[in-house]
Amino acid sequence: MQREQLVLGIESSCDETAAAVVAGGERIRSSVVASQVDIHRKYGGVVPELASREHLRKIVPVVREAVEQAKIELRDVDAIAVTAGPGLVGALLVGVTYGKVLALALGKPLVAVNHLEGHVHAVFLEAHAVGRKPQLPSVCLIVSGGHTLLYHVRLEAANGARRFSYDRIGGTRDDAAGEAYDKVARMLALGYPGGPIIDRLAPHGNPARVRFSEPKISGNPYDFSFSGIKTAVLYHLRRNPQLQPEIEARNQALARGERGADALRALCSPATLDLIASFQRAVVEDLVTRTLAAAPACGAKTVFISGGVAANSELRRTFEAEAAPRGIDIFLPSRALSTDNAAMIAAAGYARLCAGEVADSDLDAEANLPLV
Ligand code: KG4
Ligand code: ZN
Repeated sequence: MQREQLVLGIESSCDETAAAVVAGGERIRSSVVASQVDIHRKYGGVVPELASREHLRKIVPVVREAVEQAKIELRDVDAIAVTAGPGLVGALLVGVTYGKVLALALGKPLVAVNHLEGHVHAVFLEAHAVGRKPQLPSVCLIVSGGHTLLYHVRLEAANGARRFSYDRIGGTRDDAAGEAYDKVARMLALGYPGGPIIDRLAPHGNPARVRFSEPKISGNPYDFSFSGIKTAVLYHLRRNPQLQPEIEARNQALARGERGADALRALCSPATLDLIASFQRAVVEDLVTRTLAAAPACGAKTVFISGGVAANSELRRTFEAEAAPRGIDIFLPSRALSTDNAAMIAAAGYARLCAGEVADSDLDAEANLPLV
């Protein structure tokens, strides 16, 4: 029997340095993620220069650990897949350069992977792990700190191999959904990143208490807009100056390193918890409604959701509940596969490798690499 091909994936597009070994495009043999969140926290967002520097420090040990955990030697890998874009160009360059050097030194093929295609493959990795088979065509929502995009995903034959094709059917016109979570968390002094803490606090508030008007978007019904809701939260805080002292108290708690959900919740009034719950409900409803409307329009019976915000409990629950009566199957990666990782890059790289798409030594990082 032929041995399954082993692909080493490398990811450095934003603030996670990650490496993974995936067998046959489906089985995760190892997945190592070094998060830089502690470095960027005090700035309330990713600082590109610090990200590049940290990737440089971490890339070698992270790759070594992924190879060790997979119980192989570096020379056993059949190909190296690296994220070539989109992302922060300085951060991407670290992974691309290291991937090129490794491929050259080992005499193995190098595969360039689009980070967004990686997020699509995270869905397939998870489906494989739990024995499900996602049908195509599908509508895929990629929703993270950097992206909020809707794609129509189809299957194409290329050199006898499975390869996906992508049509962008919508996207955010301003902030990404994760960015809105992070900015609102900053206004409310809930720490960084905002998504996980808002996810934990929202169930303690009343989501019907604060009304946010639906974003007005003319033209494409599958476009999103999240800057309006962020501004609405800001105006709500200006209209309610009595919420300022607790914001100050939470800022002091954060400065003492008290970032846990229980500690911060104890410093939130019911009015703040209602605001948090209402914000989350508005974002989730908008993401779910537009995505589920796109599925029948594309003739899709499945919807994939991937990216950091796909880890959100209310988003997951709402998608499952609203899709079932419409006869749509929802596919979500596990929380670990939703956020940036290299297993998804290795899986996407394997599909491209099978389709004969190998990069050459002049591969460059591309900050705005489109998904095609
Ligand atoms: O995909 P990701 O790890 O990195 C990129 O932005 O590419 O996503 C990070 C984003 C952050 O904005 C973070 O606040 C958000 O995902 N996020 C969440 C949750 N976990 C992470 N948003 C809502 N609920 C969550 N549980
Ligand atoms: Zn991502």
